[in-house]
Amino acid sequence: MFSGWFSKKGREKGSGNPEDGDVPDFSFLGADLHSHFIPGIDDGSPSMEVSLNMLRGMEQMGYRKVITTPHVMIDFYPNTREKILEGFEALKLAARDAQINLELGVAAEYFIDEYFTDKIDTGELLTVRDKEVLVEFSMFSEPPMLKEVIFKLATRGYKPIIAHPERYNFLHGDFERFADFKDRGCLLQLNLLSVSGYYGGGAKKMADRLLAEGLYDYCGTDAHHEKHIGSVKNLLHSKYIGMLAGYPFLNKTLCL
Ligand SMILES: [Fe+2]
Repeated sequence: MFSGWFSKKGREKGSGNPEDGDVPDFSFLGADLHSHFIPGIDDGSPSMEVSLNMLRGMEQMGYRKVITTPHVMIDFYPNTREKILEGFEALKLAARDAQINLELGVAAEYFIDEYFTDKIDTGELLTVRDKEVLVEFSMFSEPPMLKEVIFKLATRGYKPIIAHPERYNFLHGDFERFADFKDRGCLLQLNLLSVSGYYGGGAKKMADRLLAEGLYDYCGTDAHHEKHIGSVKNLLHSKYIGMLAGYPFLNKTLCL
C-alpha cells in the first residue's frame, strides 16, 4: 500500500528507524511543530510541572527541537501574541532550570474564524518559520470564509500549514479537496496519533490515504497532555514507525 518514499534510499544509521537496526525514536523527525506546552493558556498543559514532564518525554523520544503552538480561538482561547510570548519565556526559563536539552520555539495554532481573518493584516501572526502559519478549523462543517482566508494568506506571502487534515470529518468523503488545498499553496500536517487510530477509524483511514498519496508535508504530535506523550511513545513500538521514518517529512529542516 505504501510505496515510493518508503524505500531504504536516503536512510542513515541513527535515523531512529528500527528497520535500520536502530533503537526506535523520533530523531528522524528532529523537530516537532505542533503542541500545547505553555501552561494554562489553552486546553493543553495545566501547569509548569506537567509541561516539564511533557518536554522531558519529548527529549527521551529523540526530538531535538520543539515549536509549541497554543490555540488562538476567539470564543475559547483569545490568546494574544503578547500573552503567548510571555508564557513561552516562562516555559523556556523553567526548561533551562530543569536542564531539559531541547531547542524551544513558539508559534500558534490559529482557528480560522472572523477574528483570525482580521489578524492577517496586522503583522502579528506567530509563524512556525518564515511565513508558515499553522491553522485549524471546525471538524464538522466548512467555515464559510475558508477559501477566502487561504487566498488572503497567500496574497500576503503566508503559507498555511493545515493542522491534522485527516481529522476534518466534513472532508472525509471529498478526497480531491486535499490536493486542492495543496494547489492553493497549503502545507499539510499529519497528527502522529491519527495513524494509530487514536482519533477513530475515519481519521486513520484518511491519514493512511494521505500518506499513500504523499500529500503530507509535516508530522506533529499535537501533544496536549501527558497521556498524549505516552501514546506517541507507544507508537515507537508499533508497526507504523518504519513507514513514518521512511516518509519525507520536512520536520528536520526546522532544525537547521
Ligand atoms: Fe493542536
